[in-house]
Amino acid sequence: MSTSRTTLARGLATAVGVVSLVSLAGLAAAAPGDPGKPRYTAGSSGAGDSYFPYAGNGGYDVQHYDLAIDYTPPAAAPAPLEGQLQGVATIDLTATQDLDRFNLDLRGMTVSAMTINGKPATGIAPPAPGAEVDGAAYWHVQDDAERRWELTVQPRPKLKKGQEVELVVTYSGTTVRPVDIEEAPYGWYTTRDGAIVVSEPDGSMTWYPVSDHPTDKATYSFAITVPEGKVAVANGLPDGPPVTANGRTTWSWDAVDQQASYLTTASVGDFEVRPVTYSPSGVPIHDFVDTKLSTNQRNTTNASLALQPRMIDFFESTFGPYPFVAFGSSVDNDSVGYALETQTRPVYSGSASQGTVAHELAHQWLGNAVSPDDWKYIWLNEGWATYATWLWNEEAGIRTAQAAFDTWYGPARTPEYWALPIGDPGPLGLFATQVYNRGAGTLHALRLTVGDDAFFEGAQTWVERYDDDTATSADFQAVYEEVSGQDLDAFFEAWLVTPAKPALP
Ligand code: TRP
Ligand code: ZN
Repeated sequence: MSTSRTTLARGLATAVGVVSLVSLAGLAAAAPGDPGKPRYTAGSSGAGDSYFPYAGNGGYDVQHYDLAIDYTPPAAAPAPLEGQLQGVATIDLTATQDLDRFNLDLRGMTVSAMTINGKPATGIAPPAPGAEVDGAAYWHVQDDAERRWELTVQPRPKLKKGQEVELVVTYSGTTVRPVDIEEAPYGWYTTRDGAIVVSEPDGSMTWYPVSDHPTDKATYSFAITVPEGKVAVANGLPDGPPVTANGRTTWSWDAVDQQASYLTTASVGDFEVRPVTYSPSGVPIHDFVDTKLSTNQRNTTNASLALQPRMIDFFESTFGPYPFVAFGSSVDNDSVGYALETQTRPVYSGSASQGTVAHELAHQWLGNAVSPDDWKYIWLNEGWATYATWLWNEEAGIRTAQAAFDTWYGPARTPEYWALPIGDPGPLGLFATQVYNRGAGTLHALRLTVGDDAFFEGAQTWVERYDDDTATSADFQAVYEEVSGQDLDAFFEAWLVTPAKPALP
């Protein structure tokens, strides 16, 4: 049966339309390189992560996300704690294989329209496995039980490897309070006055269509429109002043540095917009502080944020030049129970303590500029950020790194504590205390093993070599074997893998 594209577009996503589109006779494309078989294949539905098989996607590389989001926070209590989000995501990507179709990740939102290089695609119900679909189309599978959220795009004509595509996805949804695999709050987390947006490890898909894995970094721009009086804080630098029309204000942001998806933010709230300050090296610092913090929270936060220029200076001397165009904080009186190192602009819950500000700032080099190639390498983020805080505490005259190490290493701990292999802690162990403290202990023990000169040279080499990229524990070991001339197999085995207390070096 032949149906013209215009007819299909009008009958969009009706059950009848779907049946007319799908022919069950077709089989999925064979593997590439099979002689005589089609070479256009489906991009993979995951980036190959050990813990999150459906996070990220294969077959293409995103260059840029332009996110135009219109958001209305919940009405006053007792109205439900739900916001309304409408988005238009313009995604520039390049095919990395000949593509019959490819996926994005999108959770809890509904797509209403899509264009591929300016031409509309038709929204249909998910076809049966192996079924062929005629024409440019998209469909969305959302399986909360399996944590599988996949928006499939079928471009027509098919894409050749190297071809550039501009995809425009129009979507909307009611925002709620998503949780991660261990049921911690994350993603577009609705608050009474707006939203706290913190998406580690795979929560960005709750607010825009994305290849949600650190291995596909991209640049971002944002235009976040909210009711007049609300402030929207995203990554990078403001792209001009906020613009108000008809009772709504658009906050535009430009994030020109390569950025992993989990580090995007666009928090909305009643923020005080603080005057810009600068690090000694000239990094602009844009801070946003909830007007509703308690006096205690505000005092703590103010004291910590005032240290940001000095902290940037100290970490630049330790890890090399600050890696991005901006820094600053957003501090919300609502809470997700933790802070996150969202790129250029960490998010704090309730208040920002000095130690947490040092931790989230250190992540800009360790975690953000250099990101984990797989979530099993989370210790490279959290161990480093924790160790960097030990270093800052020494710099600030609070406590030496050696004393911090002794305080951690000295006391008796349970066998279960030592049993967690931080080099592969499992999806439910990503943010376990051992990943942070044994991770920092590993770095201090490494320093004692290779000496200060090699240790700090290695830290700078690590950041320089993998800046804007991702890396593994093996890459890390290779850097330290290079700078120290030592074989570190036994060291990393004892500290990252062996489920027992490592001996002192
Ligand atoms: N990565 C955050 C930090 O160390 C912490 C974090 C993210 C977290 N998600 C979490 C902590 C969930 C506990 C639970 O700054
Ligand atoms: Zn951290």
